[in-house]
Amino acid sequence: MYTLFKKILFQFEPETSHTIAMRGLQFAYRCGLTRFISPSISTTQHSQTLMGLNFPNRVGLAAGLDKNADYIDALASLGFGFIEIGTVTPKPQTGNPKPRLFRLTKHEAIINRMGFNSKGVAYVKNNLMKMRYRGILGVNIGKNKETPNEKAIDDYLIGFRELWPYASYITINISSPNTPGLRELQESHFLKTLLSALKQEQHRISISQQKYVPLVLKISPDLSDEALRELSQIMLENKMDGVIATNTTIERKGVEDSPYAKEAGGLSGAPLRARSTQVIRELHHILQNNIPIIASGGIMDETSAKEKLEAGAVLLQIYTGFIYQGSGLIANICF
Ligand SMILES: Cc1cc2nc3c(=O)[nH]c(=O)nc-3n(C[C@H](O)[C@H](O)[C@H](O)COP(=O)(O)O)c2cc1C
Repeated sequence: MYTLFKKILFQFEPETSHTIAMRGLQFAYRCGLTRFISPSISTTQHSQTLMGLNFPNRVGLAAGLDKNADYIDALASLGFGFIEIGTVTPKPQTGNPKPRLFRLTKHEAIINRMGFNSKGVAYVKNNLMKMRYRGILGVNIGKNKETPNEKAIDDYLIGFRELWPYASYITINISSPNTPGLRELQESHFLKTLLSALKQEQHRISISQQKYVPLVLKISPDLSDEALRELSQIMLENKMDGVIATNTTIERKGVEDSPYAKEAGGLSGAPLRARSTQVIRELHHILQNNIPIIASGGIMDETSAKEKLEAGAVLLQIYTGFIYQGSGLIANICF
C-alpha cells in the first residue's frame, strides 16, 4: 500500500509531499485508521532499558520530521519505540529560503538545508502540554541562527529549562550542517563549556524537581578521527547519558551523478550508511559501553539496521528510510 501512496506523494515537490503526508497521517489517526496500518510489535520481546528509560522497542523516529511536535500522537500510533521531536530553537525562525529539500530517489537519499525552521520553544511547549502520548519522547534542542557561538549556551539552556518537564531525554544538536558555524560547537573549547553548563543544569533540576532528564549529544559524521576521539573524551568526562551518531553529511560520495549533488545541505539515507556505521564502530571502541550509542544514518532495511547494532549501537533512529519504506520498516528492523 505504501508503494502506491509513495508513488503519488513523490509526484509533489518534497516539502509539499511532507505536509500532505503529515496532514494525511493526522487525519487517519483522528479517524482511528492508523491502527490498521501499524504493526503489532511485542513489547515484552523487544523492550530495552537504557539511560534509565524503558523503550518498548529500539526503533525510534529521528529528529527533523516533526520539528514542532505537531504530530506526536499520530506518529506514535505507527509503532515507534520512541520519538524525537525538534530541532527546537528558543525563538521562532523561518529557516532557509525554499527550495531547501531535495529527493535523490535513485540513491534512496535526501539532501536538506532546512536551517532549523522552528516555531520556537513557546509553541512547542504548548503542543507538548496537549499531547496524549506517554511513551519515550526525545526533545532535540538547538540555537537560533542569529545567536553567536559565544552565546550558544544561553540558547541551549533556554531549550533545556523550558522543555525538560515533557522530555524523556534531551538531545543537544550541534551537528546540523545548515546553521552556519553550528558544527564548530563540536570543537573542544566550545563543547567543554556547553556540556558542563548543561550537565550542571541537569543536576540542579534532578535535585530540585526529582526528575533526571538524560542528556544526549548528536554528532556529525564529518569529524576527523582525532576530533572524534577528543569529543568522545569530553563526553566521558562530562558523563553524557547518550550519543546519537550521526546527523547528515556534507560529503557527496556515491551521489555525484545526481542532478542535486551540488545542492548545499546535509545528505541522508543510503549513501550515509557506511560512514555513519564507521563512526559508531569508532565511538564504541572508545566509549566501551560507558555511553549508549543511538544509531542514525542510512538505516533503510534489515541489513543496515543489523550493521548498526553489530557496530555497537543499542537503539536505532530512522528518517530517510521511513520516507522511502514507510512505517513497515519499523516492524522489519525491530529485532
Ligand atoms: C529533511 C530533514 C530534516 C532534518 N532535520 C533535523 C533536525 O532538525 N535536527 C536534527 O538533529 N536532525 C535533523 N535531521 C537529521 C536526521 O534526524 C537524521 O539524523 C539523518 O537524516 C540521518 O538519518 P537517515 O539517514 O535515517 O535520514 C534531518 C534530516 C532530514 C532528512
